[in-house]
Amino acid sequence: MFVRFLAFLALVTAAASFNVPVASFEIRKAISRTALKMETDDASDANLEKETPGSSSSSSSSSSSSSTHNLLSDCPHFSTCSGCTLADPATSKILQTSRSFFERTFPDVTYTHTQPTLSKSWRNQAKLATSPLSKFKPGVQLGLYASGTHTLVPIPDCSVHSPEINSAATSIQKATIKAGVTSYVKPDQSNRVNKSGKNGPPPTGHLRYVQLNTFPSSPPTLSFVWNSENYKSTQPHLSRLLKLLSPTYPNSSIWLNLNTSTRNNIINNDGWVHLKGPFYTTYPLLSGGNLYYNPKVFCQGNMEGFMEIISRIINLSNHGILKNRIEKVVELYAGVGCIGLNLVNEGVTGDYVGSDVNPENLECFMKGRKTVKKEYQRCEYKSLDAGVSLDKGLGRGRDTLIVDPPRMGLEEGVLREINGRRGEGKLGDVRNLIYVSCGLDGLMRDLEGIKKGGGGWEVRLAEGYVLFPGSEHVETLVVLTRD
Ligand SMILES: *[C@@H]1O[C@H](CO)[C@@H](O)[C@H](O)[C@H]1NC(C)=O
Ligand SMILES: *[C@@H]1O[C@H](CO)[C@@H](O)[C@H](O)[C@H]1NC(C)=O
Ligand SMILES: *[C@@H]1O[C@H](CO)[C@@H](O)[C@H](O)[C@H]1NC(C)=O
Ligand SMILES: *[C@@H]1O[C@H](CO)[C@@H](O)[C@H](O)[C@H]1NC(C)=O
Repeated sequence: MFVRFLAFLALVTAAASFNVPVASFEIRKAISRTALKMETDDASDANLEKETPGSSSSSSSSSSSSSTHNLLSDCPHFSTCSGCTLADPATSKILQTSRSFFERTFPDVTYTHTQPTLSKSWRNQAKLATSPLSKFKPGVQLGLYASGTHTLVPIPDCSVHSPEINSAATSIQKATIKAGVTSYVKPDQSNRVNKSGKNGPPPTGHLRYVQLNTFPSSPPTLSFVWNSENYKSTQPHLSRLLKLLSPTYPNSSIWLNLNTSTRNNIINNDGWVHLKGPFYTTYPLLSGGNLYYNPKVFCQGNMEGFMEIISRIINLSNHGILKNRIEKVVELYAGVGCIGLNLVNEGVTGDYVGSDVNPENLECFMKGRKTVKKEYQRCEYKSLDAGVSLDKGLGRGRDTLIVDPPRMGLEEGVLREINGRRGEGKLGDVRNLIYVSCGLDGLMRDLEGIKKGGGGWEVRLAEGYVLFPGSEHVETLVVLTRD
């Protein structure tokens, strides 16, 4: 809370310096013009980083007057790091695209956008690549690849990372030297002459990526993606590394991900080994209780910002923005229950069922469910794909559907049911549709489909959230209803 208050003060100060009226919404807009950079992880894993934007780089315009006031100058890596492509969010192409899409397609709706957190220190999860510290000695440096290359740019003072991410990265780098840990090196780097790589020399080295997760109320979770077939062949280097890190991170969850694949999609979903510390790390629900996470499940890169979207969803029913009350909810793509458990805990719904295709989410959800207010514990969860969930009747008798799909948007079967007529089909009772999107292209396609479809849906609210200041990315909350 105190931190939030400080953040608010900073917003007011920033707003004042732009001569923007000091109303909270205006402040957020002002702040959205002062964004910082973020990482775009071009080698990211789709499952873990479903919100990560692509690496489309926009040439930053320096014409805006606010660009001299923004925080970019604070980040020493902005000019060299590929992470952030936007010096000034006011020049964001994606917000323009989004605005004109809604103006064109749903002229009755007023599209707005906000930036719910500061431009700095918002990132609570980062995946950092490795490169050798020197040609001759062990030790790795961590950072991001320069756009379209495998040249690593170290970003020890990255401004969008939480300070805990930066200090963990520094500690790990230091420990790798003493532990004799080397960086994974791809064949096309170690032998530039033979670019085919196929029959060239195999990759060498130990550490491929480090994933760091820092929630305010838990010790950081450290995950090491290692170029080994099995635990045994990580030895003795991995154990030495952990021993060196243990005085600094005695209570941290530490995970190993084994992967010798030469493809870029480096997280191996079947390669996780829990090494030490708690199996789960927790993030607080909006009012008491916890969400449970581990590296096997998807986690938002900006949890604090995402919580604002959830708070907005809760307020929709409190403040009568919806035409129809939320009573019985079905949520598809529900993850660990980030939205669902908050809604249940706030008493927005007393009858909830969620589903997600990643089976690792089930146990996280069940642990979280134990922490919500007792009188609201009537909620269920199924490990099912979205389409199969509907086939199994999860949508029957539900008045509200919540979807938070991956970047590409809804799967065809789900869209088809949404477009079914009221009173008919697997979603025939649903009258509220809450769509939380992390990929604008997928959302636009789905909304075009819903507009043309026979479901009788009306868009009542469309809001953009700049969750990743510095990137061409927008998270969008869309609320639709029908009679
Ligand atoms: C590339 O690798 C293949 C297979 O190992 C080898 O036959 C070929 O001579 C190599 N080419 C060069 C230029 O090193
Ligand atoms: C680790 O946990 C112990 C026991 O709960 C606690 O006393 C200690 O302060 C913790 N250390 C850190 C660095 O969090
Ligand atoms: C590495 O991960 C990729 C992507 O998940 C997977 O296809 C591959 O089989 C994994 N390789 C090993 C050796 O585990
Ligand atoms: C939701 O409503 C509460 C209480 O009225 C308010 O404090 C909070 O700021 C609102 N949140 C959002 C995101 O609208």
